[in-house]
Amino acid sequence: MGLWTRTPWALFLLLQILAGTAEPAENLDFFLPGDYLLGGLFTLHANAQGTSHLTVLQVPKCQEYDMKVLGYNLMQAMRFAVEEINNHSSLLPGVQLGYEIVDICYQTNNVQPVLYFLAKTDYFLPINRDYSSYEPRVVAVIGPDNSKSTITVANFLSLFLLPQISYSAISDQLRNKQRYPAMLHTMPSATHHIEAMVQLMLQFRWNWIVVLMSNDDYGRDNSQVLRDRLARSNDICIAFQEVLPMPQPDQVATAAELRQLEGILLKLKQATARIVVVFSPELALHNFFHQALHWNVTDMVWIASESWAIDPVLHNLSGLQNTGTFLGITIQEVPMPGFSEFRVRRPKALPAQPPNKSRPRGTCNQECDACLNVTRSFNTILTLSGERVAYCVYSAVYAVAHALHSLLRCSSYYCRKEPVYPWQLLKEIQKVNFPLLGNQIFFDKQGDVPLRLDIVQWQWHLSQNPFQSVASYDPMQQQLKIIGNISWHTYDNTIPTSMCSKNCQLGQIKKSVGIHPCCFECNDCLPGTFLNQTADEYECQPCPSTMWSNRKDTSCFKRKLAFLEWHEAPTIIVAVLAVLGFLSTLAVLVIFWRHFQTPMVRSAGGPMCFLMLMPLLLAFGMVPMYVGQPTVLTCICRQAFFTICYSVCISCITVRSFQIVCIFKMASYLPRAYGFWVRYHGPYVFVAIIIVLKGILLASNMLTTTINPIAHTDTEDPNIMILSCHPNYRTGLLFNSSMDLVLSIMGFIFAYLGKELPTNYNEAKFITLSMTFSFTSSISLCTFMSVYNGVLVTIMDLLVTVLNFLAISLGYFGPKCYMILFYPERNTAAYFNSMIQGYTMRKD
Ligand SMILES: *[C@@H]1O[C@H](CO)[C@@H](O)[C@H](O)[C@H]1NC(C)=O
Ligand SMILES: *[C@@H]1O[C@H](CO)[C@@H](O)[C@H](O)[C@H]1NC(C)=O
Ligand SMILES: *[C@@H]1O[C@H](CO)[C@@H](O)[C@H](O)[C@H]1NC(C)=O
Ligand SMILES: *[C@@H]1O[C@H](CO)[C@@H](O)[C@H](O)[C@H]1NC(C)=O
Ligand SMILES: *[C@@H]1O[C@H](CO)[C@@H](O)[C@H](O)[C@H]1NC(C)=O
Ligand SMILES: *[C@@H]1O[C@H](CO)[C@@H](O)[C@H](O)[C@H]1NC(C)=O
Ligand SMILES: *[C@@H]1O[C@H](CO)[C@@H](O)[C@H](O)[C@H]1NC(C)=O
Repeated sequence: MGLWTRTPWALFLLLQILAGTAEPAENLDFFLPGDYLLGGLFTLHANAQGTSHLTVLQVPKCQEYDMKVLGYNLMQAMRFAVEEINNHSSLLPGVQLGYEIVDICYQTNNVQPVLYFLAKTDYFLPINRDYSSYEPRVVAVIGPDNSKSTITVANFLSLFLLPQISYSAISDQLRNKQRYPAMLHTMPSATHHIEAMVQLMLQFRWNWIVVLMSNDDYGRDNSQVLRDRLARSNDICIAFQEVLPMPQPDQVATAAELRQLEGILLKLKQATARIVVVFSPELALHNFFHQALHWNVTDMVWIASESWAIDPVLHNLSGLQNTGTFLGITIQEVPMPGFSEFRVRRPKALPAQPPNKSRPRGTCNQECDACLNVTRSFNTILTLSGERVAYCVYSAVYAVAHALHSLLRCSSYYCRKEPVYPWQLLKEIQKVNFPLLGNQIFFDKQGDVPLRLDIVQWQWHLSQNPFQSVASYDPMQQQLKIIGNISWHTYDNTIPTSMCSKNCQLGQIKKSVGIHPCCFECNDCLPGTFLNQTADEYECQPCPSTMWSNRKDTSCFKRKLAFLEWHEAPTIIVAVLAVLGFLSTLAVLVIFWRHFQTPMVRSAGGPMCFLMLMPLLLAFGMVPMYVGQPTVLTCICRQAFFTICYSVCISCITVRSFQIVCIFKMASYLPRAYGFWVRYHGPYVFVAIIIVLKGILLASNMLTTTINPIAHTDTEDPNIMILSCHPNYRTGLLFNSSMDLVLSIMGFIFAYLGKELPTNYNEAKFITLSMTFSFTSSISLCTFMSVYNGVLVTIMDLLVTVLNFLAISLGYFGPKCYMILFYPERNTAAYFNSMIQGYTMRKD
C-alpha cells in the first residue's frame, strides 16, 4: 500500500533525474539543473557596439571579442549565491535552485537569450490569449549589466510579467513602472549616481568641469542627466563636452579616431578646467587613456561613472596614475565570505555528456574557455577590491530565493514544489525584506534596493585596495559623507582647483561674463548698497533710507543723527553772540527803565519799547532751543516762537514810525479815526492783530506740514542723517516771514516819509539798516539752503535769527542808549523842542 502510494512520487523523481541528466550540461559555469531555474545575463565578452554582426544574420561568436573580467566576476557571484542557497537547507529546503546563464556580449546578443528563457524546455513559445498559467523556462532573470541591453530585454520580459532584477543598469528610463512593471534593481538609479557626483564636486568647490561621453546611449543619457541636474542649481558649469569615438570591434584605433582623440586631448590640456567627468563604457576608454598618456596629460581629476569606476583592466594600464587623480562612483562594498575562493574555483569535472554543439542552445553563447584563466590572473586585484557590484548580483539571487520561499510556503524542512508562475513570483519579490550580510534587502516603490553608493579613489600601491572608498552617499538622505583621505595626485597633495572664476570676496557682487553662471567678475557694492548673499548674488540691494553702508558691506548701519551740539565751535560762537545780545538787551532795558520819563525814551515809543525789549530778551534767552536733538516741542518753538518775537518787534517799529509820520496828518484830516486810534490804544491793537494774524499763519503752516522732526540725508556725508524741524525749510521760512516782509516795507516807507524829521525822530537810517540786514540775511539763508542742506542750515538759521534780533537790539536801541548815556544834554525837553522848532522853520 505504502509502496503504491509512493510510486508516483518515485516515478516523478526518476523522471526528474532523467530529465536533469538528459539536459546536456555543456559547461557547468553556465548551467545548473534545478527545480526552478534563474536566467542570468552577463557580459563576458565585449566589443564596442560593433555593427559587424548585423551584416550577417547570425548571433556573433562572442569568443572573438575581448574578455571582460568583471563580467565573469559577476557571473560567478550569481553561481556562488545559487550554490550557497542550495547548500544551506533552511531557505529553500528540498528545492534545488538552478540557472541558465548567457553571455550577452555587451549589447550584441540579448534577444536570443530572452526568447530562450521565455520558451518552454522544448524551445517552444506558445501563442496564447492568457499567459497567467504559463511556465517559461526560467522563473526570473538576473541582469543584464548595461542599460541598453536591459531595456531590450525588459521590453520582452515585461509582457510576460517575468521578474527581472538588474544589478548594474542605472538608466532612469528603467524606473518607469508603467513601461517596465516587472523590472527591479539592486543598484541605485542614475539620478543618485549623478547627485553623488555633483555633491562630490561641490564638496571640493569644483565648478568648472569637462564632460566626456561615449557615442552611445550610456554616454548621452547620463551626461544629459548631469546637465539637467546642473541646470537646476547653477553652481557647477560645464566648460565643454566632447564625444569619445567608439572604437571598432577589433579595438585598434583608426587614424580618424586618433585624430579625434588628439583634438579632445589637446583641448583638455589647454583647458582651465581640471575636472573631467567621463560617462563611457570602459571599452571606449582604453584607446583614450593610451592617447592621454601619449600626450602627457597630467594633473587631471577623472571622475568615473559607474561603468568603469572599478574596472581592474583599465586600472592595470601602466602609467595611468601619471594622468592625475581617479575618483569613481560605484556601489558600496560588502564583503562576501568565501567568494574570492569560489571565483577561481574550477567547476567540477563534467559528467560524461559530451558537448552537443549542434543543439539550438549553442546559439546562446554559453561558453568561455579563457574566462577562468584570465580571471585568475586578475584574482589578486579582484580580491583586494572587495565585492561591490558582485553583491548586487548576490542580493538579487537571494531576493528571488526569498520570494520563492514565501511563494512555496516553505517551512524549515519542506517546501511545496508547486508550479511557479512569473507574475506570482514578481509580487512576492516586491514584498521581500530580509537581512543579507549586514544590509536589509527590500525594494522601494521604484523597485530599487536603497544600497549606499561609494566614491572610490584609485590606488596603485601594491597590497592595498585599488578602489579605496573615500566618501559614501546615502540615496535615502541624498547626502554625501567624506569618510577617508583622498591622496591628490598634485604637488604637495593639495586639493586641485577647478573654477572658472575665483569666489568673490564678501560684499562683492558677481557680474556674469559670457554664458556660464560660474564665470564672473567681482564688483564691489557701492556705498549705500549692500550684498544680501542669500537673496541675490548678482545685485547690490540699496540700504533703507535711515541706513547707510560702506563699500563692500554686507549689511547697512544706522546713519548717525546730526544736529547742533554744544561742544561745536559754531554753536559756541552763536551762543556767545546770543549771550551778548541778551546782556545788551538787558542793559538797554535797564537804561530805558531808568530814563523812562526822558523825551528820548518817549520818542522811541515809550512803553512800547518794553513791548519790543521783552520779546528780544526772551528770544535771546531761548536760543538753547536750537541746540540738541530736535523734539516736537523745540520744533514748535523754533518755528513759532522766534518769528512771533520778531513780528512783535517789527510791528512795534512800524506802528511807531507810522505814529511819528502820520499821526498829525491823521489828527487833522481824519479826526474820528484819530479819536478811535487814541481811545482804543491803536498801536497795541495793531500789534495784537499782527500777532493773531501771525499765529494763524504759523498754525496753518504747521498743520499743513508736520511738526515732528524730520530726518533727511546729507548729500555731503551719507554716513549721517540730519534731523531738522521742517521738511521744506525754505518755503516754511518764506511763508513765515511774508508778513514780516510786508511790515518791514511799511516801516521802511514810513521811515522814508519821515526822513525830513529832526534827527532825534528820524530813525530811517536805523530802520533801513535793520530791515536791510534782515532781508539780506533771510535771502542769503534761502540761497544757502537751496544749494546746501546739511546740518549747517540749522546753525545758519540760528545765526540769522540771532543777528536779526541783534540788529534790532543794537541797531534800533543802541544809538538811543548812546545818546542817553553820553549826551544827556540832548535828552531834554528843551532840546527836543528846539529841534522841532528848527524843523518847522525849515519847512516853512
Ligand atoms: C557547498 O557545499 C559544498 C559541499 O559541502 C562545498 O564544497 C561548497 O564550497 C559549498 N559552496 C558554498 C558556496 O558554500
Ligand atoms: C611626453 O613626455 C615625454 C617625456 O617627458 C616626451 O618624450 C614626449 O615627447 C612627450 N609627448 C608629447 C606628445 O609631448
Ligand atoms: C545533438 O543533438 C541533436 C538534436 O537534439 C541530436 O540529433 C544529435 O544526435 C546530438 N548529437 C550528439 C553527438 O549527441
Ligand atoms: C588555462 O590554464 C591551464 C593551466 O593553468 C591550461 O591548462 C589551460 O589550457 C588554460 N585554458 C585556456 C583556455 O587557456
Ligand atoms: C597588467 O599590465 C601589465 C603590463 O601592462 C601586464 O604585464 C600584466 O599582465 C597586467 N596584469 C593583469 C592582471 O593582466
Ligand atoms: C586622514 O589623514 C590624516 C593625516 O594625514 C589622519 O590623521 C586621518 O586619520 C586620516 N583619516 C582617514 C579617515 O584616513
Ligand atoms: C537677505 O535675504 C533673505 C531672503 O530674501 C532675507 O530673509 C534676509 O532677511 C535678508 N537679509 C538682509 C540683511 O536683508
